[in-house]
Amino acid sequence: MLFVSVGCILPISFTWFLACLFFGQTSEMMSIKWKGIVVIYENILVEKRGNVALITLNRPKALNALSPDLMRELSSAVDILEPDSTVGCLVVTGSEKAFAAGADIKEMKTKSYMDVYMSDFITAEWERIARCRKPVIAAVAGYALGGGCELAMMCDFILAAENAKFGQPEINLGIIPGAGGTQRLPRFVGKSKAMEMALLGQARIMDANEAERSGLVSRIVPLNELVDEAVSTGQKIADLSQPIVMMAKESVNRAYETTLNEGIRFERRLFHSAFSTEDQKEGMSAFSEKRKPKFKNK
Ligand code: CAA
Repeated sequence: MLFVSVGCILPISFTWFLACLFFGQTSEMMSIKWKGIVVIYENILVEKRGNVALITLNRPKALNALSPDLMRELSSAVDILEPDSTVGCLVVTGSEKAFAAGADIKEMKTKSYMDVYMSDFITAEWERIARCRKPVIAAVAGYALGGGCELAMMCDFILAAENAKFGQPEINLGIIPGAGGTQRLPRFVGKSKAMEMALLGQARIMDANEAERSGLVSRIVPLNELVDEAVSTGQKIADLSQPIVMMAKESVNRAYETTLNEGIRFERRLFHSAFSTEDQKEGMSAFSEKRKPKFKNK
């Protein structure tokens, strides 16, 4: 009933979305969604541009504060998009003012230790993006603070607008970063800057230029081009062989989890296995024949 005319924008509450999952209507939802209809959850927008899924965090009044509901919707969107063979890359973005200003402080402030421990707060709602096997690009404009910075770091790389601001201000709230900030940030920017940011909080916000210099973001893009640039970058990735892209992502990520020798062994095994794919034959034949490859994801 909600899926009537192609081309319109459909509001779909997350509760309803869960009901669809429960009653097995997900594929119907998806098939209509991918025929040009933008599905609106309560806290995110999801749309497909070419072979790229664009997820926009959408709580503008709260500067995209990452409430548990928002993070559940984001996780569910990844659950749907990851196995969709027409999606080769995901882009996560926010508004021009805020990618996300952190976890939702108002929702957190009365929680007790037992509340957060028993619900496994953060783990339960947040980690899906980091586990996505397809590439995820964060397109960051404005504030990426606390959980917002942590969410961006869970993505595979970050494109930043000139006005992007990164920080871990949790210490000003009487907590520490809780979605990977103390672990991922030093891996990007080194211990000294990460420590300064974690200890000084609001007093040590990193601008886009410093973030690029420090390796936190891969590139700075003009604000008005950010989303288009992220999507077109995503499309370039989506045009490649999806299994090989997944292997490349898995192999780079392994560098953060293992020793150099083990990592190189892991890379070598995946490199060898790439030779079992039709796409390797196609890629190398196309090079030799001076034509564009047509990858089949096989
Ligand atoms: N949670 C809930 N609401 C938030 C929010 C957050 N993290 N950040 C902003 N908002 C809300 C504000 O309360 C305000 O709502 P009202 O209009 O209802 O008062 C609205 O968004 C606009 O915010 P401001 O008026 O504060 O906007 P500003 O431009 O003056 O300041 C800001 C912008 C500097 C980002 C400021 O909002 C701010 O400091 N936000 C909090 C940043 C923060 O501490 N983040 C860490 C959260 S804890 C965390 O993330 C834990 C973790 O590791 C997972």
